Amino acid sequence: MAVYVRSPLYDRETIILPEEISNLSKPFNGTICSNRGDEYTIKNNIADLLTKEKSYTLAQSTNHWRMTASVYEDLWRVRSLSLLTGEPFPIEKERELLVDWVQPKPGMIYLDVGCSTALYARSLFKAETESIHVAIDFSMAMLEEARLKAEADQADIYLIRADAREMPFFGKTFDGVVMGGTLNELNDKLRVLFECRRVLKDDGVFFVMHLIQSESWYGKVLQNSAEWSGIKFWSVDQSNEMFARAGFEVEDQFTKGIVCFSKLSPV
Ligand SMILES: C[S@@+](CC[C@H](N)C(=O)[O-])C[C@H]1O[C@@H](n2cnc3c(N)ncnc32)[C@H](O)[C@@H]1O
Repeated sequence: MAVYVRSPLYDRETIILPEEISNLSKPFNGTICSNRGDEYTIKNNIADLLTKEKSYTLAQSTNHWRMTASVYEDLWRVRSLSLLTGEPFPIEKERELLVDWVQPKPGMIYLDVGCSTALYARSLFKAETESIHVAIDFSMAMLEEARLKAEADQADIYLIRADAREMPFFGKTFDGVVMGGTLNELNDKLRVLFECRRVLKDDGVFFVMHLIQSESWYGKVLQNSAEWSGIKFWSVDQSNEMFARAGFEVEDQFTKGIVCFSKLSPV
């Protein structure tokens, strides 16, 4: 099924993403445009809807490096939760929780925000191949890696280069929005949370995994020193206050060490 997105330049204009671009086993190159004539390229199945480069924090800049993208999932992501929680936390457990809370259904459409290698979008596709999956990131290097991994998993995903602060989607487009580990590195987190609320349907689900403030003195020292690179940490209460300001209520929440999983629903 083709996916209808919003022109990044003209709020009321639609751009159609052809279904073929989500079939990653077949390279697709071309251009797409709105009725106003603004054109965007699709290169190797990745639609580039980023109209202006923004300034990045150091933590965000590293995601644009090809080297980071190529090792991100296999060296870091699969081990990250065990390292951060201090006890075995296999990636399969995180994927199970994601699927359990999001409950993907046939014909429904899901968005992975700040997807990096699209781990969450691939997991949801695997759980429900008859649903539609869109994944955005502003790092082309990460999206190219996501493309390789999704192709290997035979997962059909619409990969879009876009800024989560101004998502190229119409309001109430998605049945579910998922965001893993991205919140901590956003320099405009409330704006992104508001965007997540805007593009989510009123009966949709928002799954967030993020890192919270450490309780230990050495954890606090480490987290304070990470803040200069643009990574921020909040307590669970502060996080929930942000979610509430953006129009979400907590339906379920689970913390282990400094890792917090939240199932949020629109208020
Ligand atoms: C910590 S990684 C999380 C990756 C992934 N969600 C996961 O679970 O493995 C954060 C990602 O968010 C992306 N990102 C950060 N700020 C963004 C923004 N404003 N718009 C789009 N992507 C963003 C980065 O490029 C990076 O790939």
